[in-house]
Parts: sequence; structure tokens; C-alpha cells
Amino acid sequence: MLQQYDARNANLQIFVGDGLKPRNEAGVSVFDSSVQGGDGVWEGLRVYREGILHLDKHLQRMFDSAHALAFQEIPTEAFIKDAIRATLSANGMEDGVHIRLTLTRGVKITSGMDPRLNQSGPVLIVLAEWKPMVYDNAHGIEVITSTQRRNAPQFLDSKIHHNNLLNNILAKVQANVAGVDAAIMLDENGFIAELNDTNVFLIKDDILLTPRPVACLPGITRGHVMDVARQNGWSVGEADISLTELYTADLAFATGTMGGLTPITKADGRSIGNALGTTRFHALDAWVKSDIPNRCSKP
Ligand SMILES: Cc1ncc(COP(=O)(O)O)c(C=O)c1O
Repeated sequence: MLQQYDARNANLQIFVGDGLKPRNEAGVSVFDSSVQGGDGVWEGLRVYREGILHLDKHLQRMFDSAHALAFQEIPTEAFIKDAIRATLSANGMEDGVHIRLTLTRGVKITSGMDPRLNQSGPVLIVLAEWKPMVYDNAHGIEVITSTQRRNAPQFLDSKIHHNNLLNNILAKVQANVAGVDAAIMLDENGFIAELNDTNVFLIKDDILLTPRPVACLPGITRGHVMDVARQNGWSVGEADISLTELYTADLAFATGTMGGLTPITKADGRSIGNALGTTRFHALDAWVKSDIPNRCSKP
């Protein structure tokens, strides 16, 4: 499903660097590291009436990603929360909102790769938009397997949530060419890593399975789903999962902040799922949804 322009976002106020700017004036310098090298880190956050879902976990992952990339002068949690609060308040936003939170390595004194050219600290961007869930969760999604492998730690650790997304974008291009919603990305051994933008789960008999966090982003929604399943007495495992296991699952689904829990109805032309898997998925989805208010906090 292609996201559409939402006219409610025409006059957004966007936080860039040290303050709010109108949508048509907000931007980063041509010397910014995100322009020159995709050198930034980011988080997608969802805003509910009760607050921001998993706010502290998202901020911690952003700090960890920035630290792993050796960013200097990383802004404090208080600064980032103030910027989020100011942005939501300026736009009158309380619910049904997605925030793209980005921290670039900042502006360089001259173009170049070397982080020593960054001498004025990182640049924070808080882009809050009115945005429904991006996938059609009622009908599910169709996927193909990409020839593009997801990065394992020997190339670029997928645990860093960085802005250099070309690996995933190339997979998404293949999904687009195939006329489907998303692409499965395998690890270097041919096991499933994740989709190009979300994590993957299978329900098989009594077990909920997800790929080991080796070549995927260990998503925060993924962790939430595993927690809730365990609390409700399910067996949950992290494993090397082959495509055959996906094709023959009782149900397969994707998880992420942008889309919530989304059934995968078809992979590489094979229909996936059965009545038992569907019933179990609906139970899990309902438990996760009812737990969301407990996991929200105000910035
Ligand atoms: C590649 C990739 N996988 C999975 C996810 C889902 O992560 P989360 O549940 O933390 O939103 C994301 C979200 O940004 C992602 O970019």
C-alpha cells in the first residue's frame, strides 16, 4: 500500500536543530552529514492519547546507535523530550501521529567523510505527521524474497538504527517491481533476517518464532510482542528460520512501529496460513493492542 499525501500535514511545524520551523522552510544544511553520507540515526515513534509508545526504549536505542557511530556532543534526553513536546504542542497533536526522530552527525566545516570535520555537534529533527498505520492490517501484505541480503555485523551491524538505508531500499525496489508490499531479506546464510522495514514472526503449532537478532534490527515492537506472548503462556523462540518454514507456517506476520502487527498472506507466490494460525494471531494482536496504553509515556 503506497502512503498518500495527507493535507492535514500541509502546515506542519518541524523542529530542526534548535527550534521550530514551518514545513516549507524546515531543512538541513547541504553540509549536513545526513546529506553527505546518510550519517545519522533515527527512530519512528507513534503517538497515542496516553503518550508515546515505548518512548524511553526508542530514546535509548537512539542514544546507543549514536554512541556506536561515535557521535560527539549527543543531546540530552531532556533536550530531546522538550523538542518532542514543543513539536506536538505547536501542531496541536495528541493521537494518530507518527514522529520521525532523526539525529544527524551534524554540519561539516567542508564536504568530506571524516567525522573530525563535524565541529558543531549533532542536529536533531523532530518531524511529527498525522499518519494512520501504513499497512492494511485487515487484509495483510504480500511479499517476495529479495536478492539483497540484510547486513550482518561483519558488514554493518543492523543493531545500529542508522539513516544509511540503501540496503533496505534496494530490497523495497525489488518488491515494487514485483508489485507486492514488501521484501523478505535473508541473512548471509540464507535464513530470514526481516522484511525491508519490519520484523518477521511465524506461528507454528504452539510456538511463536522470530529470527535470531543477528542480521535484523531487534525491533521494539518485536520485543513487545514476545513479552505479551510469554505473559499469556505461549512458547516463544528466536531461531534460524528458512523460507520453507515461512511458507508452511500456521500464520506469518510482520511487526513495526509504522504498521503494528500485519499478517503476511503470501510470500513468493505461496499462500501462507490456516484457520488455527489466524485465530491465534487475532488473540495475540488483541493482547498487544490492549497493552499499548500501559507502554506509553508523555515526553
Ligand atoms: C529495518 C527495520 N526493521 C524493523 C523495524 C521495526 O522496529 P520497531 O518495532 O522498533 O519500530 C524497523 C523500524 O524502523 C526497521 O527500520
